[in-house]
Amino acid sequence: MVGKEACRRSVVAEPLADQGLVLITGASGGFGIEFARQLEALGYSLILHGRDEPRLLLTLNTLRHPARHRLILADLNAKKGVATLLAGIGSVPLAGLINNAGFGIWGSFEQTGIVPQIDVIKTDLKAPIELTHALLPGLLKNKGFIINVSSLAGVTPLPYMSTYAAAKAGLTYWSEAIRTELAGRVRVVTLAPGPSPTGFREISGMPSGPGSFFRSPVPGIIQAALLTLARGGGYCVPGRRHRLLYLLQKITPTKWALRLMASHLRP
Ligand SMILES: NC(=O)c1ccc[n+]([C@@H]2O[C@H](COP(=O)([O-])OP(=O)(O)OC[C@H]3O[C@@H](n4cnc5c(N)ncnc54)[C@H](OP(=O)(O)O)[C@@H]3O)[C@@H](O)[C@H]2O)c1
Repeated sequence: MVGKEACRRSVVAEPLADQGLVLITGASGGFGIEFARQLEALGYSLILHGRDEPRLLLTLNTLRHPARHRLILADLNAKKGVATLLAGIGSVPLAGLINNAGFGIWGSFEQTGIVPQIDVIKTDLKAPIELTHALLPGLLKNKGFIINVSSLAGVTPLPYMSTYAAAKAGLTYWSEAIRTELAGRVRVVTLAPGPSPTGFREISGMPSGPGSFFRSPVPGIIQAALLTLARGGGYCVPGRRHRLLYLLQKITPTKWALRLMASHLRP
């Protein structure tokens, strides 16, 4: 049996060469940048996706071999966003797909515009499903992998982040279901982190404070996802603090959890 330490060494310390091509969506943000660093160290060539070219170039420049990787710009909220991304990838079969791009909106449902709420569904739920469906033949051919970046926000309903939580709950259910369907052919990881220090909170508009005890460093989160992948895939709640939060979510009756979260998140 492969021990935890042995697994960690094989994931992080012993880079392999020419492992194939991996698409990382949302590679200009916190988790995406770290996925790029750790996957490059494992020998993968990367397609780095985002909307913001200067920030994507910053990601590229943090990598050791920028010439091995390429960038694709596409807004996943836009009508042709997924098609633009797929056209940029072309017909090369991928070794891996990281469905990471996403954002949330904090605020009361009635006072938040419908367009941004539907955009959350498009980017966080619809785009991963569309991308995976289109890229699956290549992933099957390569016996590849998919990592879906969901969230602990998908474990219980979240007042004042209602649409984001619904999108992540949907992503988790879908990801876990296809993990079972694809078992033995494509490895699937459903990554469910809790609060983490990336651009996410600022973009959502949420003030800092709620959930700060549970905030965990990004490198360990990505390392945990890749460790789960090395073990064949699975549902991954990374790190002790996020696992504690997950446990609390699981044991707290929903009606109490709703009240607690409403009092934490109410604008
Ligand atoms: N940080 C947390 O606390 C936390 C916890 C659990 C789960 N997550 C999930 O982790 C994932 C990565 O987020 P992060 O925390 O790394 O936040 P981040 O730093 O804000 O990065 C988000 C990434 O998603 C991309 N993105 C957002 N909307 C997009 C759109 N419409 N089209 C294309 N790309 C888009 C951004 O690209 P641009 O540069 O173009 O904006 C950026 O690269 C998200 O799915 C998020 O829901 C985050």
